[in-house]
Amino acid sequence: MKIGIDKVGFFAPHLYLDMTELAEAREVDPGKFTIGIGQEKMAVAPLTQDPVTMAANAAWEIVDDVDRDAIDFVIFATESGIDHSKSAAIYVHQLLGLKPGARCIEVKQACYGATAAIQMAKGHVALHPDRKVLVLGSDIARYGLNTGGEVTQGAGAVALLIGQDPKIMALEDDSVYLTDDIMDFWRPVYSEMAFVDGKFSNEQYLSFFSRVWEQYKVQNNLTLKDFAAICFHLPYTKMGLKALRTVLEEGDEVVQERLQANFQKGQIYNRNVGNIYTGSLYLSVLSLLEQQDDLSAGDRIGLFSYGSGAVGEFFSGILQPGYKTHLHVSAHDALFAARQALTVAEYEEIFQSGLPTDGSAMELNIDLDPAPIVLAGVEDHMRKYVNKASEGM
Ligand code: COA
Repeated sequence: MKIGIDKVGFFAPHLYLDMTELAEAREVDPGKFTIGIGQEKMAVAPLTQDPVTMAANAAWEIVDDVDRDAIDFVIFATESGIDHSKSAAIYVHQLLGLKPGARCIEVKQACYGATAAIQMAKGHVALHPDRKVLVLGSDIARYGLNTGGEVTQGAGAVALLIGQDPKIMALEDDSVYLTDDIMDFWRPVYSEMAFVDGKFSNEQYLSFFSRVWEQYKVQNNLTLKDFAAICFHLPYTKMGLKALRTVLEEGDEVVQERLQANFQKGQIYNRNVGNIYTGSLYLSVLSLLEQQDDLSAGDRIGLFSYGSGAVGEFFSGILQPGYKTHLHVSAHDALFAARQALTVAEYEEIFQSGLPTDGSAMELNIDLDPAPIVLAGVEDHMRKYVNKASEGM
């Protein structure tokens, strides 16, 4: 039985900051941000968007009534969760109008969480082939104003529907995965901001990639030439490029050109959204599939997932016939085209604003946010969500 990605939805908030403007404000050569780190724009979440609303908006794009009947498992991967106890998946379940006969959970392992969720989903579908699993990867990446990581922030979500006979990509049973207890990036429960040892994290990312890739080739009897493309977790696009470059020499000139060209297509969305942690690898897959016309059914796409702390995994998927017709290219073009640029001062103001933490109530102006699903405020320690598009659902 083929199991894999049946649908992919994506959402980023309607506000962004241009990295050239950030560079100028921080008195850095813009080339460092746009070339050295490889980021053009970063999505900025207003208070009306949090990890729940972003995930719900990404899923709203793809979930129809047939899916509502089939989805009996929602797995929400995040490292910017809003509650230590209740899973974010339950809010999304309600906002989408999913059936009560469903399991809802949240999973965490830094940026690796959505990959763990997908593998769990595959197991569920293998046992119950008529059912579907909604996997959500949604995060707001915050390192702090004037920090080294500031240029690698972002906000957004990817929603993946996992089922049998998938319309987009069948996932192979070929994973190689690895865990090691390291402190390259973490966020203690008392901190709004992540702590990161950027250089160490880069080294570990490359080391994990090398270790899983070497084992993958042996375990699956495959080599670089068997891949039409390799997509990477992209905390910033240069990170994936560095990883790709470590293996390019294993292929001839044709293979090298193909993988480099496809890497370029697979980083377009990430370059313009920034780091979205759990959804980042799958945003790159989406960027590749939507922006590259030279791929064909049967092509093998490699996926490298990395979550600091750390867990790494390499696996692959096979593109399915007609996959392109099941993507939402024009909706995503429209999403990017409609975004509004912020000045650095406006971004800093949003960054420093926050929801109350003392139990007081706050009402937010949801008319300023064009997204269908928004956070309308906080009352009695509870977030109030609204789905503006759900009338008549
Ligand atoms: N034009 C072009 N490139 C330039 C440049 C310029 N004017 N100035 C600098 N660069 C290049 C550097 O040569 C370097 O390239 P290299 O990495 O290929 O050597 C790159 O820009 C970055 O410069 P660097 O001095 O290393 O930047 P930094 O000390 O500010 O750190 C990060 C960059 C990415 C490490 C930092 O932003 C960070 O820690 N981000 C968080 C990463 C993360 O999230 N990790 C965990 C999840 S995997």
